Amino acid sequence: MIEFILNNKLIKTTQPSGSTMLDFVRYHKQLTGTKIGCREGDCGACTILVASFENGKLIYRNMTSCLMPLTNAQGKHIVTVEGINQAELTPVQQAMVDTNGTQCGFCTIGFVMSLTGFVMNETAIKYEDAIKAIDGNICRCTGYKSIEKAAKILIDKIAERPTNKLSWLVDNKFIPPYFIDIENRLKQINKTAETINQDALPVGGGTDLNVQKHHLVKQSVTNNLFDASHLKGIVVENNEVKIGASVTVTEFAESSITQTIFPNLAKHIKLVSSTPIRNMATLAGNLVNASPIGDMTIFLLALNAQIVFNTQRKIYLKDFYKGYKQLDKSPQELIEQIIFQVPNPTSLFSFEKVCKRTHLDIASVNTACLIQLNDNNTIEDIHLAAGGVAPFPKYLANTILFLKGKELNNDVIKEAINTMQNEVAPISDARGTKEYKLLLLKQLFLAHIENLINIEELV
Ligand SMILES: Cc1cc2nc3c(=O)[nH]c(=O)nc-3n(C[C@H](O)[C@H](O)[C@H](O)COP(=O)(O)OP(=O)(O)OC[C@H]3O[C@@H](n4cnc5c(N)ncnc54)[C@H](O)[C@@H]3O)c2cc1C
Ligand code: FES
Ligand code: FES
Repeated sequence: MIEFILNNKLIKTTQPSGSTMLDFVRYHKQLTGTKIGCREGDCGACTILVASFENGKLIYRNMTSCLMPLTNAQGKHIVTVEGINQAELTPVQQAMVDTNGTQCGFCTIGFVMSLTGFVMNETAIKYEDAIKAIDGNICRCTGYKSIEKAAKILIDKIAERPTNKLSWLVDNKFIPPYFIDIENRLKQINKTAETINQDALPVGGGTDLNVQKHHLVKQSVTNNLFDASHLKGIVVENNEVKIGASVTVTEFAESSITQTIFPNLAKHIKLVSSTPIRNMATLAGNLVNASPIGDMTIFLLALNAQIVFNTQRKIYLKDFYKGYKQLDKSPQELIEQIIFQVPNPTSLFSFEKVCKRTHLDIASVNTACLIQLNDNNTIEDIHLAAGGVAPFPKYLANTILFLKGKELNNDVIKEAINTMQNEVAPISDARGTKEYKLLLLKQLFLAHIENLINIEELV
């Protein structure tokens, strides 16, 4: 039995735990405001708001219902457009109308839900953040300028929003009055999904599984890892950063620990999928998916991260990948924790990604580098990883071995590029030719170095 609040109604359902929230709201509850576009997380037509308690506070985040497994709704508030509709248009809906932000209307509900989530959010009120909130919503008609104007109107409207915002949002008709009681009502519902047997299909956010194995998930008994409390949280202990396997990309990006360690984190994470996908995507899901271009995998490989299984076995992430989608892991083993050493404060971290579109696209090539130079410009320590250049996410062991202990100068960089190009084997595919990927790898390596030191000063 899965129990949650859908708009203003308490739901108790025995529908399959791996079926999608999209199908549940449309076909079981006839809430057809939520639209079906791609069913792959790309278009945002199916966007809903999902509220859960984060550090004791109820936070609403936008998610793509086409990828959300029903089990992940346990103990949460799920909001479709019918759940914000009132006698008159809400200020978000009105802003879209006033700026001609809607034409055929197919995408409109998704934009309205994402912007409503933005208005409800804790973060500072900035236009750029409103635009970020709709980075997972695609419109074929408007050309976006009118939707951007709607976002500007909203920024002005919420400028006076007080910190204790819920009643203000109700008074100003952004959301209906029933939202005031949701926090208390949710407290009466069990937060964790029912315990499942060992053979159940492990499911995180479902953003890979529901694209690649939609039918399998739908028919399987699922093991909800997304909300398992022992797989959550980021802490520092004994100079190690310890991250729960089900920490989402958003949680990773919003943690004060990771923000302190990686000053450019926001810039890096902006390159990863979109806000709704980041709100669902877990780090372990990214590692186990074993995509050769997994962004967080490349990020963590360059930190020389280790993974800890439920069996307490602990291995380096670089040893996890054995071939295309082949892992050093038995079917029963689940990742529980990801661990990396707090980087030396004098070291520098850099992440680069090139794809065909700036947003919501997977990489042609991505790469990350952690490097520590000593006073003589000699490389004290380095970890380097690249995606899109091998059948699995590649820890560039030969290049690292070559660079360690070397003085960083032009000759060394040239030789490192040679070594690097010899230890990868990209293939030509939809994301670029083999030659293009080799060129990208070289340029992105130079970009790492340039992020660290002024390349023109090198001799
Ligand atoms: C529109 C869209 C855009 C995307 N863009 C990007 C992008 O830019 N960059 C990128 O890297 N990825 C991207 N992805 C891929 C995906 O979002 C990530 O790989 C994500 O991190 C997967 O996490 P999840 O929790 O959703 O995994 P799930 O789909 O829930 O699971 C993936 C796999 O991991 C297994 N699993 C999950 N947790 C565990 C665990 N603790 N132990 C063992 N096995 C586990 C599952 O059984 C499954 O085999 C995108 C996906 C979509 C749909
Ligand atoms: S239907 Fe396109 S993102 Fe869900
Ligand atoms: S209004 Fe037609 S897709 Fe956006």
